[in-house]
Amino acid sequence: MRGALWLVGLLAVGCGESTEPAADFGEALFQDARLSESQYNRFSCATCHAPTPTPPAGRVLAGHTLHNAAFRPSWWGGYETQLLDAVNFCYVHFMRGVSPLTPEEPKSRALYEYLVRISPDPQAPALPFTVVKDIREVPRGTGSRGAEVYRAACQDCHGEPHTGKGRLTERASVLPEVVRDYDTLFPGVPKSLVVIEKVRHGQFFGVGGNMPPYSLEALSDEDLGALLAFLEL
Ligand code: HEC
Ligand code: HEC
Repeated sequence: MRGALWLVGLLAVGCGESTEPAADFGEALFQDARLSESQYNRFSCATCHAPTPTPPAGRVLAGHTLHNAAFRPSWWGGYETQLLDAVNFCYVHFMRGVSPLTPEEPKSRALYEYLVRISPDPQAPALPFTVVKDIREVPRGTGSRGAEVYRAACQDCHGEPHTGKGRLTERASVLPEVVRDYDTLFPGVPKSLVVIEKVRHGQFFGVGGNMPPYSLEALSDEDLGALLAFLEL
C-alpha cells in the first residue's frame, strides 16, 4: 500500500484508537510554525500549501494543494516516492527542521492523519512539478497584473513593496530594494535575471537561503513577467 512505511510506525501507536483527535492535532500542526523546533523558522505548512482543492482566491502558493496529497503515487514531480520523505524535504529545507520527522513521533502521526482526512480520493494522480533549470528573460506584462501577483505570491513573506511592512520574517528581503546591491554582488548579470533565478530556484542550484522555488505550475512565466514589470525590473 502507498505510504506503507510511514503507516507501520503509525499503527504501532494508533492501534484501536480513533484517529479523529490525531487529525485535529495534525490540522493545528499544519498551521503552526512551531512544528519546527528552530527558533528562526516562521513558516508553517500553510505558508506554502492550501488544504483545499484549490487555493483561496487571490493566493498563489509555491507548493501544490495538499488536498488529495496522501495517496498520490509519488511527490515532488516523481523525485519522492514516500509521503514522509516528501514532507521532510519541506520540513528540513524550508522550515529549518533540525532532523527529519520520524514515523513514530506523535507529530508525524497527527500530520499523516490530517493529510489522510483531506485526501478523499485514494486514486489521486501525481501532480506535475516543472522546474525551470535554465534561467532566461521573460516577456514583461502589465504592472497592474504584477501588483496582484505580488500580493498573491510574495507579500505574505516579504511584506509590502519598498518597506517590507508586515513581512513574516525579518530575513525576507525588502523588494525590490534588495537588487540595489546586485551590481556589486553579481557584476555583469542583469538584475532581473538574478530575481528570476531566485523565484524559479528558491534556495536550490547553489542559490542559498530558505525561500521555496516556484515551478511553472505554481507561477507562469506570464505572471512572472507581470511581477517584474511591477517591480520595475
Ligand atoms: C516554504 C514553502 C513550503 C513549506 C513551509 C512547506 N512546503 Fe511542502 N512543498 C513546497 C514546494 C515548493 C513543493 C514542491 C511543489 C509541490 O510538489 O507541491 C512542496 C511539496 C510538498 C509535497 C509534495 C506534493 C506533491 O504532490 O508533489 C508534500 C506532501 C508537502 N510539500 C507537504 C508539506 C508539509 C506537510 C509541510 C509542513 C510540514 C510543508 N510541505 C511545508 C513548499 C513548502
Ligand atoms: C515562503 C516565504 C517566501 C515567499 C512566498 C517568497 N519569498 Fe522571497 N525570500 C524569502 C526569504 C526568507 C528570503 C531571504 C532568504 C533567502 O534568500 O532565501 C527571500 C529572498 C528573496 C530575494 C532576495 C535574494 C537575495 O538575497 O538577493 C528575492 C529577489 C525574492 N525573495 C523574491 C521573491 C519574489 C519575487 C516572491 C514572489 C514570487 C517571493 N520572493 C516569495 C521568503 C519568501
